[in-house]
Amino acid sequence: MLPLFTVFLIFVLLIVIIFLVCYDYTFKATDGRPENIYLQEPPSPRKVPIIGHMHLLAGYEVPYQAFVDLGKKFGSVFKLQLGSVKCVVVNGQRNIREALVTKGHHFDYRPNFERYQQLFSGNKENSLAFCDWSSTQKVRRDMLKAYTFPRAFTNKFIALDTLITRESQELLKDIDQEGSVHLKPILLKKCANIFLNHFCTENFDSNNDKFAKMVENFDEIFYEVNQGYAADFLPFLMPFHQKKMQKMSDVTHEIRNFIHEEIIKDKYNNFNTKTEPNDYLESLISHVKIENEKTDGESTLDWEMALFALEDIIGGHSAIGNFLIKLFGYLVKEPEVQRKIQEEIDDVVGTERPVSICDRSSMPYTEGVIFEAIRLIASPIVPRVANQTSSIDGYTIEKGTVLFLNNYDLSMSEKLWDEPTKFLPERFVKNGKFFKPEHFLPFGGGRRSCMGYKLVQLVSFGILSAIMQSFNINTVQNEDYRVPVGSLALGKDTYKFKFERR
Ligand code: HEM
Repeated sequence: MLPLFTVFLIFVLLIVIIFLVCYDYTFKATDGRPENIYLQEPPSPRKVPIIGHMHLLAGYEVPYQAFVDLGKKFGSVFKLQLGSVKCVVVNGQRNIREALVTKGHHFDYRPNFERYQQLFSGNKENSLAFCDWSSTQKVRRDMLKAYTFPRAFTNKFIALDTLITRESQELLKDIDQEGSVHLKPILLKKCANIFLNHFCTENFDSNNDKFAKMVENFDEIFYEVNQGYAADFLPFLMPFHQKKMQKMSDVTHEIRNFIHEEIIKDKYNNFNTKTEPNDYLESLISHVKIENEKTDGESTLDWEMALFALEDIIGGHSAIGNFLIKLFGYLVKEPEVQRKIQEEIDDVVGTERPVSICDRSSMPYTEGVIFEAIRLIASPIVPRVANQTSSIDGYTIEKGTVLFLNNYDLSMSEKLWDEPTKFLPERFVKNGKFFKPEHFLPFGGGRRSCMGYKLVQLVSFGILSAIMQSFNINTVQNEDYRVPVGSLALGKDTYKFKFERR
C-alpha cells in the first residue's frame, strides 16, 4: 500500500502531464506543425487521378452552382482537389464572414496561377487584385481610398459629380439615333473618360483613335482576367495558351505606351514633392519620389509597381462599362422597371435639370435596380488563399489552400430571397429607403474587399439615371438578351438596343 502523500503526488503529476500535453496540441503552434491539428479535415468527394475533382464542375454554367449542389451532399465547408491545386469551398453567410472578416488576416493571399504571373509582367504582386497581402498592398490601398471612396460633398465628390453628369450628357447625344445602337464601345469610352479625369486629370475626344484603342485593349484584358482556365489548375496545359498569352502581353504593352505618352507625359519629372498632389497619378508620383529620396533604401512602392497600380485602377472603367451593359440587358426586357425608374426621376428631379449623384439618397428604387443587376450577375469573390494553417467552421484549412467563398449561393439562394431568379429591385427598398441585406456580399469584405464599389454605385447611378430620364430602352428584333452570369465580363460584340426619346 502506497502512502497517501505519494498517491497525492502521483495524481498531481498526472494532472500536470495531461495539462502540458493538451496545451501543446491545442494552443501552441510550432513551426512546421499545423495549428489546430486537433480539428477535422473538411469532407471531400472521391477524386480521380490527375484532375482530382475537376470533373464535378462539368455541365454547370458557373462552377459556383456546382459548389451549391456539392454543399448539399458534403456540408457547407468541403475540400476539392482541382488538378494540382488544393481547394476548399466555403458556403453560408456565417462561414464566409469568418473567412473574410473574423479571420480575414489568415486568408488574404490570392491564387498563384501561372496566367496571373504572365499577365503582370511575370510577377502577380504587380497586380492590385491578384497579389498576396503585403505592406505594399496596404500602401496601395491606403493611397487609393481618397479617390475611390470620395466623401459626400467634399471637393473631390463634387468634381466627380460634375464629371459623371458631363459624360452622361455626352452619352445621350451619342445614343440619340434612329435604329439600333451598339452601346458597349460608346459607354466604355464615357466610363474611361470619367476614370481618366478623376484619377489623372486627362480627357479624350471620343474620336481619338489612340484613346479608342486603349479602351478596347482594357476591355480585352478585363475579359481575359475574368475567364477561368483549366490550365490554372493543370499548369502543364499552359503551353496551349501561349498564343493567347502573347496577344495579352502585346495588349498590355500597348496600354503601357498609351499611359506613358498620353497620360504621364512629363508629369513625373515636373512634379514638385513640396506641392499637394492634385489627383491619384500625382499622389503616386509624389509617394515614389519621396521614397526615392529616403536614404535607408526601404521602399514600399517603386515607379514600376506604381504604374501597374495606376493601370489597374484605370481598368476599373471596364468593370463598370461591362456591368452596365449587362444591367441594360436585363432592363430592356423589363419595361415596368424602366417605368418605375422614370417615375422616381420625374418625382425627385423632373426634366429641367440632369440627375446628379447627390440625388441617390432620394432614389432608392433606381439604386435597387443597380443592386438587383449585381445580385443576378453573381460575380464571384476573387478566390483567397490561406497564408497560414487556420480553420473555418471548425475545419482545418491548410496553409496554401485556395478558398472559394461561394457568394453565388448568398445572391441566389431561395432561403435568402423570394423568387431569386426574378428581376425585382424593390427587394432592396424598405420603408422608402435603400436597404442591403447583410447576407448580400457582392464586393467581398475585409482587408481585400473591392476598392471600386463606391465608384460602381456612383457612376452606374449617374449613367443609368441620365439614360432613363430621356429615353426608353427597346429591344432590337432577333437580338439575344440573355445575360451570362458568374462574371462581369462580356465579349466585344454584345447587345444592340433601340433608344426611344420619351
Ligand atoms: C459591379 C462591379 C464590381 C464588382 C461586382 C466587384 C467585385 C469585387 C470583388 C467580389 C472583389 C474581391 C473582394 C474580396 O476578395 O473580398 C473585388 C476586388 C477588387 N475590386 Fe472590384 N468589383 C467591381 C468593380 C470594381 C471597380 C470599378 C474597381 C476599380 C475602381 C474595382 C477594384 C477592385 C480592386 C482593386 C480589387 C482588389 C482589392 C484587393 O485585393 O485588395 N472593382 N471586386
